[in-house]
Amino acid sequence: MHDFRYIRGRLHCGQVALEALVARFGTPLYVYSQTTLADHFQKLAGALAPLDHRICYALKANSNLAVLRTFAGLGAGFDLVSGGELERVLAGGGDPAKCVFAGVGKTEAEIALALRHGIYCFNVESEPELVRINRVAARLKKVAPVAVRVNPNVDAGTHHKITTGTYENKFGIAFETVEGVYARAAKLKNLRLRGLQMHIGSQLTEVTPFRQAVERVAPLAQRLAARHGFEFLSIGGGLGIVYESALASGAAAWWRTPAGRGILTPAGYAAALVPLLRPLGLKILVEPGRFLVGNAGILVTRVEYVKRTGHKNFVIVDAAMNDLIRPAFYDAYHEIVPVRRKPGATVPSDVVGPICESGDYFAKDRPLPKVGEGDCLALLSAGAYGSVMGSNYNSRPLPAEVLVDGARAALVRERQPVAAIWAGERLAPWQRRR
Ligand code: LLP
Repeated sequence: MHDFRYIRGRLHCGQVALEALVARFGTPLYVYSQTTLADHFQKLAGALAPLDHRICYALKANSNLAVLRTFAGLGAGFDLVSGGELERVLAGGGDPAKCVFAGVGKTEAEIALALRHGIYCFNVESEPELVRINRVAARLKKVAPVAVRVNPNVDAGTHHKITTGTYENKFGIAFETVEGVYARAAKLKNLRLRGLQMHIGSQLTEVTPFRQAVERVAPLAQRLAARHGFEFLSIGGGLGIVYESALASGAAAWWRTPAGRGILTPAGYAAALVPLLRPLGLKILVEPGRFLVGNAGILVTRVEYVKRTGHKNFVIVDAAMNDLIRPAFYDAYHEIVPVRRKPGATVPSDVVGPICESGDYFAKDRPLPKVGEGDCLALLSAGAYGSVMGSNYNSRPLPAEVLVDGARAALVRERQPVAAIWAGERLAPWQRRR
């Protein structure tokens, strides 16, 4: 379920009316439901209960400290991809001993930081990286826990920009060569071989690619675990969410779309994978990002103008591609609903931002109720890869973020003051006035 619904024609998060939040905090505004965050975590944890497992939240999806704190409080670990994310986890009260560190380009400084904080494991993407981690660990007189990311060469059947598990992608080490890599890694004195990892892509809405990848990797994990005495297999993240009809399907089963697409439930995921994973006797890690936060957040924006051109009905809003880049970048679909329900016929509309690029749109020819200046719209399923992918393009400040818990709402990120955008910039010495 998610926590966004109309009550007497007004969109609410929990018991809080979005109109009230707009009046308090302005727009564009990200709003997150703590209830939904916790609900999704618990649904996944419940489905995976037959396994000795750990959920490592991939905070790249949404790294707001209040979101991190919610998951840390539920016992989550974290999947990191930078030194900055490790610092964030520490700032949000997460436990570094439950963190895994992914990514193809870890720097020496990031490796050293992670070793000093005692993370659970490095998920390693190449042999040169193994050598580098060993060298940094030796310098710090530490033993670095590592897992190799295996590329199982299984097509996740998702958008090409978020497919990661085929040999066309830069990720992981080819399935056929992994055993040789472990044999060589076993000779490096400052490494401890702790597990094996994989991740085939993001926004998977069917279980088949997961099953294929696990079927392929499980026997390998078993052989390697016996040989090197390691303790875990991570099956990565990638569980997809509903983007179409997210509101309508919300209260009953948010993962069910009318067309029968996107029916990957935590229960369905577990039913397919638990029987393959349990016999391994290993700890199983999962690294979901989108699944935990995607449907828990929305982006609220205000209509500035309605421009009718004879060809199109442009609804020009105050949010833009710098606030939510997914439609521009992946042609992603986000459902758009009015904050105050509008009766009457719909009009095919292009919802666009103020940025000077034709890619700055949220929807094209979308049937929307007739709206006018000052009306607010909500872009749904914006909790994952929304604010984190924001930028200051066009010197637009990053939006404010609010967390709602039942009837309570709190600002969890202030709207960026405009001057903060250039606070780190300087004139060159020869440009300064004497
Ligand atoms: N583990 C690894 C190694 C990953 O690379 C990712 C995501 C995850 C876990 C979490 O995947 P999730 O459960 O969220 O699917 N910006 C894109 C998505 C990029 C995903 C990158 N890697 C989007 O907006 O669709």
